[in-house]
Amino acid sequence: MRRRHKHLIFVICTLFSIGYISFRILSGNDQTEWTDEVENSPKKITEASEYYEDVNFIKEHRPRFETPGNDRQKRISSLLEKYSIDWRSPIQENIWHVAEKWVSARKLYPESSPLISSVLRYLSSAPIVKADFGYGGTQLKITLLLEGGQLAVFKPRWYPRDFLVTGEPYAGRDRHNAEVAAFHLNRLLNFSRVPIVVGRTIDLRNEIKSVATPRLINTFFTREGNLCFYGKCLYCKGPDDGVCAQGDKLEGVVILWLPKKLTLEKWKHPWRRSYKEGRRMRWETDDSYCRTFVKNTSPYDKPPRLLDIMDTCILDFLVGNADRHRYETFKNINNSMLIILDNGKSFGNPFEDELSILAPFTQCCLLRRSTYERLQMLTDGVLSEVLKTVMELEPLAPVLTQPHLLALDRRLKVVMDKAHWCMKQYGEMNILVDE
Ligand SMILES: *[C@@H]1O[C@H](CO)[C@@H](O)[C@H](O)[C@H]1NC(C)=O
Ligand SMILES: *[C@@H]1O[C@H](CO)[C@@H](O)[C@H](O)[C@H]1NC(C)=O
Repeated sequence: MRRRHKHLIFVICTLFSIGYISFRILSGNDQTEWTDEVENSPKKITEASEYYEDVNFIKEHRPRFETPGNDRQKRISSLLEKYSIDWRSPIQENIWHVAEKWVSARKLYPESSPLISSVLRYLSSAPIVKADFGYGGTQLKITLLLEGGQLAVFKPRWYPRDFLVTGEPYAGRDRHNAEVAAFHLNRLLNFSRVPIVVGRTIDLRNEIKSVATPRLINTFFTREGNLCFYGKCLYCKGPDDGVCAQGDKLEGVVILWLPKKLTLEKWKHPWRRSYKEGRRMRWETDDSYCRTFVKNTSPYDKPPRLLDIMDTCILDFLVGNADRHRYETFKNINNSMLIILDNGKSFGNPFEDELSILAPFTQCCLLRRSTYERLQMLTDGVLSEVLKTVMELEPLAPVLTQPHLLALDRRLKVVMDKAHWCMKQYGEMNILVDE
């Protein structure tokens, strides 16, 4: 009798799990979500049938695919509560003013506020009043004046989401979606140091060309019935370097300009790479570079700059951005943050982890305790799951492909392993810095 019961229960459980799994597959869920469950469920089913005693036991020990209220689930809910975007949030009249007031020495916006949703929503839809060349640099951009007197930058799409960028770690053109993903990731890390950015598909003819300055209009042309332009930048010399809309529709991102009254100061990154072939920088050959040189050199000899470099290299490693040879701070502000501008060279290759990006951290073995704790919170696949959910309704959605999301979790593990190695080597109190 018992034995029959066992078999019956086993069959029911198996059928249920097969049904459940195929439902998850059919409902188009992502791989991470259901691989976890596939891994966990059969084991639990066997346990339940082996240790079956009575119906109550089965009820209690029925295989659960999600354990509501477990630690992982709690971390996910609390992060989602803080960082989800409400794309229906109302737009208030003075929203640009609100965003400008947010900017301070150590952050560009609050950790969590419904008004962030408001800014994103308006940035993705505000009428464009004027359009001109970008402000120089190597990559094609358009400067926009938005209704309400707000400046912004438009960066166009060059690649489809699943384009694989190979070659040098800094190869390829800007990835517009990477700017969006880096912004939301920076929020999950509680940095508030990546300028606000949102996806937006513009009508190149009616929204840009119609309000463009004559010098921008001069760079417009058509190719195979599509409207194109090449603007002006180091790599924008003519139609060959231009970008084309599909018809008139051009996907891209809009980045909120920082308040005009704050000037930026440019710095050479102490761990910059040489872009000349064959030339190696000191950090590439000298593991004591941080200890014997950087730590004793201004402005890295006093907080907060070196810790900002640590935070930034961790973000850069997660997203695969090997192109931060310079960085910006606010000029004449003593404890200015390192502003994490220009993240377009991220998310190029999800199948490789560029360890050299992490060199500042591996050579200094230094980290804010708050950053460490936040990274810890994002382990066990929480990072990819929350980031994916936060960006689910972004105008560019899906912002990242599944391999890129999985790469984030994999790289986070590399960072945590490195942090634990440092702690073991030098003691936690010498690694984690309280502020
Ligand atoms: C996030 O960072 C701010 C400092 O910018 C800090 O005041 C706040 O406590 C942090 N939040 C959490 C949950 O750690
Ligand atoms: C910045 O630091 C310098 C010296 O380190 C000091 O003289 C100056 O008053 C500080 N400025 C502000 C705005 O705190």
